[in-house]
Amino acid sequence: MSKKSLKSQKVCSKPLADKLERKIETLLAKMTLAEKIGQMTLFTAMWAETGPTIDRNFLQYVREGRCGSIFNAYTAEYTRSLQKVAVEETRLGIPLLFGFDVIHGHRSIFPIPLGEACSWDLELMKRSARIAATEAAAEGIHWTFAPMVDIARDPRWGRVAEGAGEDVWLGCRIAEARVRGFQGEDLTADDTVLACAKHFAAYGGAEAGRDYNIVDVSERTLAEVYLPPFKACVDANVRTFMPAFNEIAGMPCTASRTLLTETLRQKWGFTGMVVTDYTAINELIPHGVAADLTQAGQLAIEAGVDMDMQGGVYFTQLEALVNAGKVLPAAIDEGVRRVLRVKIELGLFDDPYRYCCEKREKSRVLSPEHKAAAQKAAEKSMVLLKNEDDTLPFAKNLRSLAVIGPLAESQLELLGNWYGAGDGNQVVSVAAALREKFGKSVNITTIKGCEVDDEDDSQLKAAVTAAKKADAVLLVLGEYGNMSGEAACRVDIDLPGLQNRLAEEVTAAARGKPVAAVLFNGRPLAISRLAKAVPAILEAWFPGTMGGQAIAEMLFGDTSPSGRLVMSFPRHIGQIPIYYTAKNTGRPISSDKYTSKYLDCPNTPLFAFGHGLTYTTFSYGPLRLSAAEMPMNGEITVSITVTNTGNRAGEEVVQLYLRDLIACVTRPLKELKGFKKISLEPGAAAEVKFTITAAELTFVGPDLEPLIEPGEFEVMIGGSSSVADGQRFTLLPK
Ligand code: NOJ
Repeated sequence: MSKKSLKSQKVCSKPLADKLERKIETLLAKMTLAEKIGQMTLFTAMWAETGPTIDRNFLQYVREGRCGSIFNAYTAEYTRSLQKVAVEETRLGIPLLFGFDVIHGHRSIFPIPLGEACSWDLELMKRSARIAATEAAAEGIHWTFAPMVDIARDPRWGRVAEGAGEDVWLGCRIAEARVRGFQGEDLTADDTVLACAKHFAAYGGAEAGRDYNIVDVSERTLAEVYLPPFKACVDANVRTFMPAFNEIAGMPCTASRTLLTETLRQKWGFTGMVVTDYTAINELIPHGVAADLTQAGQLAIEAGVDMDMQGGVYFTQLEALVNAGKVLPAAIDEGVRRVLRVKIELGLFDDPYRYCCEKREKSRVLSPEHKAAAQKAAEKSMVLLKNEDDTLPFAKNLRSLAVIGPLAESQLELLGNWYGAGDGNQVVSVAAALREKFGKSVNITTIKGCEVDDEDDSQLKAAVTAAKKADAVLLVLGEYGNMSGEAACRVDIDLPGLQNRLAEEVTAAARGKPVAAVLFNGRPLAISRLAKAVPAILEAWFPGTMGGQAIAEMLFGDTSPSGRLVMSFPRHIGQIPIYYTAKNTGRPISSDKYTSKYLDCPNTPLFAFGHGLTYTTFSYGPLRLSAAEMPMNGEITVSITVTNTGNRAGEEVVQLYLRDLIACVTRPLKELKGFKKISLEPGAAAEVKFTITAAELTFVGPDLEPLIEPGEFEVMIGGSSSVADGQRFTLLPK
């Protein structure tokens, strides 16, 4: 590692870094080729199934010193038993590294990342990652395959659930927060884990929203949209990276030297370790760039892959490749160095068992403090999409409430997908949380009405009868947890099954009474039909272990919704991909025929990026600029007064958007460049200020390098990306 890269990564002080490097070299000198390849090999212990199983003999390989890392294994006891084999039964006693997909909590499950991103609360996200790391680390895990920082603009793609939505700027801030949360200040602490920035790159650009499909994006879109969150992770000192399954313009990411070496290491200065996705080296064969596993292994190592996840390609092919002179021993040494480096950084050579601790496991996992944080996160993630006539919150003096819908009594579904070691039995369903909240004072009847995704209408009548009898109706609708996530894409992203019909019939039967719908889902849905039928919709995503309680509190106004969408909700699937940073085109939409629009649907989404209602209302005063001109190296302040005009306290996410009016390349109509979340009592006002500097005005120039150009910019501040009016200022030439 060069002095320069060490410094930029702030891994440790120079003497410590030198000591670390000496340790690595001493070890390397003792290792056989087979042992080195072992360090570059990762196998699953199958406690969770996260891909196809190829080889189950991982323990034997650990014993032989031919497998240096294990994933999908947890608990202090189990990981210790495996660690013991590595440390006590192998020649060099190199400790194992344990990885796991700790995506939104380990046992205390937080809302899915997409939902949590809707909190627009970076501290909350950092803390949730911190708690996930604390619980996972107490159960022997050293490394999470998170955060997923793939920008996603196609809600058919099931993995949108795991990311932070469509926006680049916000995606970068969230990526940094999550990396810092997982890794903490000090990797040797007993409650921090290595983070992994994935999936590098443009996995979210899967054609037609179909998982693993090809990605064909321009170099510009790659640089403007998909790469920045990964760069943000490097700047936040993420220690591992995972190439994406997909190809970009003909090159599978796992075999892309351009991405893994030139961009990641040479341009960005990443000093950590690169692990493949699950069997991704093997997949170079069906991709059609390798004829066999030998060639696949060679391509991967040449590209810059340090560790092979589950495919066993390095395990079976590397030795022969080296012996045949096709892979240089130095390339192997470099990969091994990177693996050993993160193991040392975690402190595993000082104490290989430091992460396996039953005592911490008992005291930290699912602690009341963690559960309270999970409930807070669930509360802050919910987005009130619609609330006609202040339907919500429901009045507390209701005598009866009908809770109708296929997910009303669900527990496990509230955890969504990738729920780590979470347990559905820990979850209180929405109906049960309401029963707990009200005891006998409100008569709560529950009926499914229909299943999530079948066509059986035999329960509809009973649901309608229940709705007629109750003072108010709550519909609990959505997707099953496994309808999003990996390999879980949908072409029709409306509510599945008969749920729209259920909502329509129940709402019609309850005419004149409050009716609200709570949604559980892992992606933006195309819910124009539901939005027409019901007066109020609360988007709860998959809210995690404490979701039921958080929803019960919110429905009755004990807490207030404050989430804002991080992904546009289309009116119709035909609008996909849909995102607010659209460009004007040469023929922007107007009433003229020959303009960019549809005949049968507006261009705008049903619910825009940044949208979210509260139980109160806010008004925005005029926008004030500190100057009409900004010197190239100067700054400009923009301020606005926001007033709570309703009669409840509430939180507003004040969003700053910028537009570069004329540039040497086309620029979006608006881009988020800042936000402030404020809390206001009824009648109270606050002045919100943003400072605009060169950083906010810089864009990707024609040569794909950062560029700032003098000229006119428009500033807009509002409560969602639909804000229209702004003010202009001029950036002066140097
Ligand atoms: C495949 C997924 O794409 C990746 O995100 C995950 O970390 C691995 N499987 C391991 O489970």
